[in-house]
Amino acid sequence: MADLEDAVAVITGAAGEIPAEIARQFAARGMRLLLSDLDEPALAALVESLGGEPRCLGQRQDVARVEDAEALAARCREAFGRVDYLVTGAGLYEHLPLAGLEPETWRRSLAVNLDGVFYTVQALRPLLAEGSAIVNIASLAGHRGSADHTPYATAKGGVLALTRSLAQELAPRTRVNAVSPGLIDTRMMQSLDVGRREAMTAAMPLKRLGTAREVASVVSFLCSPAASYVTAETIHVNGGLYSA
Ligand SMILES: NC(=O)c1ccc[n+]([C@@H]2O[C@H](COP(=O)([O-])OP(=O)(O)OC[C@H]3O[C@@H](n4cnc5c(N)ncnc54)[C@H](O)[C@@H]3O)[C@@H](O)[C@H]2O)c1
Repeated sequence: MADLEDAVAVITGAAGEIPAEIARQFAARGMRLLLSDLDEPALAALVESLGGEPRCLGQRQDVARVEDAEALAARCREAFGRVDYLVTGAGLYEHLPLAGLEPETWRRSLAVNLDGVFYTVQALRPLLAEGSAIVNIASLAGHRGSADHTPYATAKGGVLALTRSLAQELAPRTRVNAVSPGLIDTRMMQSLDVGRREAMTAAMPLKRLGTAREVASVVSFLCSPAASYVTAETIHVNGGLYSA
């Protein structure tokens, strides 16, 4: 593994609230960054705020497109020649009751939330360095299911199984883990029905939403030598909601 100031991290969905916080924590640790997202203006603003080239690069990527994953890998190879840490943060959380859920909508959710993880890992796989680590951002929904979010929950459940399979196949060179956030105080959570959010908050031991920073710090731990014997695991960050 490279010294931290030489370590290269790739983050998808980087303009998102949780992934952007991960990028800020990685930048503070001195890592070189390749950040991708579909939202180009938000990505450009983040890249600029982190100092821009040559240590922080932005790349447009629709994670649902294999070609975009390959373009990301080509950019990474050219700019840095390696990957030490990969965080798959891109996600699409939509209110989709089963009644009226069309096959195209189902497929789109699976494509972004599950296929996208596979495409990105597969494209970057040849660049993964000795001692590298992947962290897939899953969700509590992938463990418990989530009414009105069936494709999302199904995809995130797939991400958990994908994580464990990758951990077996990419070992010992690369550790692969998942982080499953619960209710995090972000715009993604604003789309959840208020009554449901309040009932879930009341039921959880810590009685409050989590913050992007509290998720990012767990990802940071997994992407560090402190987690050198941790692989094929999922760390829950949910204020105890899973056990409630
Ligand atoms: N916020 C929460 O409470 C919560 C809970 C559980 C899991 N998560 C997961 O955490 C991750 C980050 O979530 P967030 O809260 O920061 O959400 P966010 O909506 O702020 O970020 C998601 C990012 O993914 C990007 N994205 C969407 N579709 C894409 C595509 N096709 N290709 C590339 N990028 C795309 C968006 O542009 C956005 O920047 C997601 O995987 C999400 O499912 C969030």
